[in-house]
Amino acid sequence: MSTASPLDEQQIRDRLAEIGAQIAADYAEEPPILVGVLKGAVMVMADLARSIDLKVEMDWMAVSSYGSGTKSSGVVRILKDLSGDITGRNVLIVEDIIDSGLTLKWSLANLRSRGPKSVEIATSLRKPEAARVEIDVKYVGFDIPNEFVIGYGLDHAENYRNLPYVGVLARSVYED
Ligand code: IMP
Ligand code: MG
Repeated sequence: MSTASPLDEQQIRDRLAEIGAQIAADYAEEPPILVGVLKGAVMVMADLARSIDLKVEMDWMAVSSYGSGTKSSGVVRILKDLSGDITGRNVLIVEDIIDSGLTLKWSLANLRSRGPKSVEIATSLRKPEAARVEIDVKYVGFDIPNEFVIGYGLDHAENYRNLPYVGVLARSVYED
């Protein structure tokens, strides 16, 4: 599915309901631990988790990608680690957006090194044109154009995360 940003509340809600139903079917035998990547994933975690009709657990990780402004470097530092053990468990990483994919690639390798049964990814947004690494993403809300977006958990300089929709940030806000 490919769509233009911005996205309104109804579009996001409808799409997450579809993904939640898919996840419930795929994991009916053995429900996953949802691992939300702070801070951006809080909104999608809250909405996606409520659309999965299974007994799922939730945990959180915060990572920081060294980089400046709107670009990521792929060099990552853990700011907050999971509070639980994922050995032998089905892990479903919940992400706000996959841009270059560099941060996620690092997080994937990190979680896989802990001996989980499986690790898959669910993301509300993905920018296919920005991809710098190939990552197999099982659940994608929307593929969007390569523009800087805000809202629904996504920030610019820590602002706009609370917007209930996704909007495109005017270039004049972040370019000289
Ligand atoms: P990546 O490592 O380039 O895939 O970047 C991942 C992270 O950068 C995301 O989890 C976001 O926190 C942030 N990011 C990437 N693109 C955007 C955007 O368009 N708006 C806001 N944050 C973004
Ligand atoms: Mg993120």
